[in-house]
Amino acid sequence: MRHWLNRRIDRRRFLKASGGTAAGLAVAGCTVTAEEQQGTAQQEAPKATLPYPRTAIARASELTVDEPVTFNYPDEQSPCALLKTGRPVDGGVGPEGDIVAYSTLCSHMGMPLTYDAEARTFKCFEHFSIFDPELRGQQVCGQATDDLPRIQLTYDESSDELSAIGVAGLIYGRASNIL
Ligand code: FES
Repeated sequence: MRHWLNRRIDRRRFLKASGGTAAGLAVAGCTVTAEEQQGTAQQEAPKATLPYPRTAIARASELTVDEPVTFNYPDEQSPCALLKTGRPVDGGVGPEGDIVAYSTLCSHMGMPLTYDAEARTFKCFEHFSIFDPELRGQQVCGQATDDLPRIQLTYDESSDELSAIGVAGLIYGRASNIL
């Protein structure tokens, strides 16, 4: 009896051990396959975002310091301002590296911004947020917690043309900048 019981236990242990090993091998095999499949899927996955349009805005020589030019980008529902600051700034383009552009929807609740040439800042008169165009749209004070979305620009020396080619930061009220 004891001999039979020992044999039974031994068999159970064996089955448990061998089954576990088999399961482990099976799991390991599945894991590798899944990773391989995931890697392949990642390589082949199409881009989730659409490309930004390239939109000509103005000629650099037509701009006046502290007089913003308004335009819409990346679509008609998104007001923006192109600004020549008159001195080279971080992220500035053009012959003097002093031209920048921003969304003019306040990052707090989307109210329109006004450029104050005296203070050289964009201001929101709804809850008094202020943004500095010479510091990449950084929020200076007020209710907003995010900087202004920056419109990425490119400058063509041969034609003197400034074009918008993208947006850095999320435009207020959107889940994606490209609708
Ligand atoms: S909407 Fe501009 S500070 Fe509130």
